[in-house]
Amino acid sequence: MTDGGRLRHIGLLTSGGDSPGMNAAIRAVVRGAHVHGLQVTGFLGGYDGLVNGRSRALGPRDVSNIIQRGGTMLRTARSAAFMTAEGRDRAASVIRGLGVDGLVVIGGNGTFTGADVLYREHGIPAAGVPGTIDNDLAGTDWSIGYDTAVNTAVEAIDRIRDTASSHERLFFVEVMGRDSGAIALDCAVAAGAEFVLVPEREEHIEQLVRAILGADGAKTSSIVVVAEGETEGGAFVVAQRVKERLPEKDIRVTVIGHVQRGGSPTVHDRVLASRLGVAAVDALLRGEYNNMVGMINGRVTLTPFLEAIHGRRELDRDLFRVLNILAT
Ligand code: F6P
Repeated sequence: MTDGGRLRHIGLLTSGGDSPGMNAAIRAVVRGAHVHGLQVTGFLGGYDGLVNGRSRALGPRDVSNIIQRGGTMLRTARSAAFMTAEGRDRAASVIRGLGVDGLVVIGGNGTFTGADVLYREHGIPAAGVPGTIDNDLAGTDWSIGYDTAVNTAVEAIDRIRDTASSHERLFFVEVMGRDSGAIALDCAVAAGAEFVLVPEREEHIEQLVRAILGADGAKTSSIVVVAEGETEGGAFVVAQRVKERLPEKDIRVTVIGHVQRGGSPTVHDRVLASRLGVAAVDALLRGEYNNMVGMINGRVTLTPFLEAIHGRRELDRDLFRVLNILAT
């Protein structure tokens, strides 16, 4: 579709790391398109599906019974082929060959970067839906999958706390988030952790040691949440440094890992995905291209791809203060 042309056929893909609620977003895009008489083609395996022409038609019944499922029925990938100009040329021919005239891409930073490049090089318009557990995009308070991921991580940390207190142990628990500390900070507050280490804030080992001992020096078991992107080198390295300072402590490390990426999405993620999926189709129909649809203060908003990618979402600094107070 050239700018100003009528939208008839949407191409849909999920790309990057999967996140719970992507299926709910796929369902919303397909059904949101159907009510406007639009055809939908789903590309399989992210941008690889565009490059290789692996696709399937999607009607409203093809997305039945998926709202509650984790993962993505369209599968996902981080496509090396699409990173090359030749790969993108192939993708553009596939898109034009099928008569697709607008894309909805569900994912994070890399996904929106891909859609932006495709528009600049080949004029193919797109709308983006934020689907990543990292919640690191500017232009939305929430990305789809984040709520489920933090709830999964907190449930795991609650279990760790049971055994930590029985054995009077100190646990370092590493959570995902790439170079964002959003997951770690929310998990730390929600799980009643003693301390959190995130990439956005430099901490000193002495502060960490004080928090572990507690204001009265009498704490017996503690939980420290470590964001995978923090700058000390990860949970194992931090644990080793603390062991050198507190050799009497019985220390264990748990990396929660990809458990955070799976599972049935929470109500919050299902509702968010449903609203944003419909909003992405609406944005394309209005001719508003190359924006990410997001949710700010409960309202659907549009943010240009480049702003969403480069304008980093800030952590709520007050949460560090709350954590400190409650960890005394
Ligand atoms: O971006 C989502 C995410 O889960 C990050 O939190 C994490 O750093 C990364 O993906 C892991 O990627 P992979 O699944 O390729 O190991």
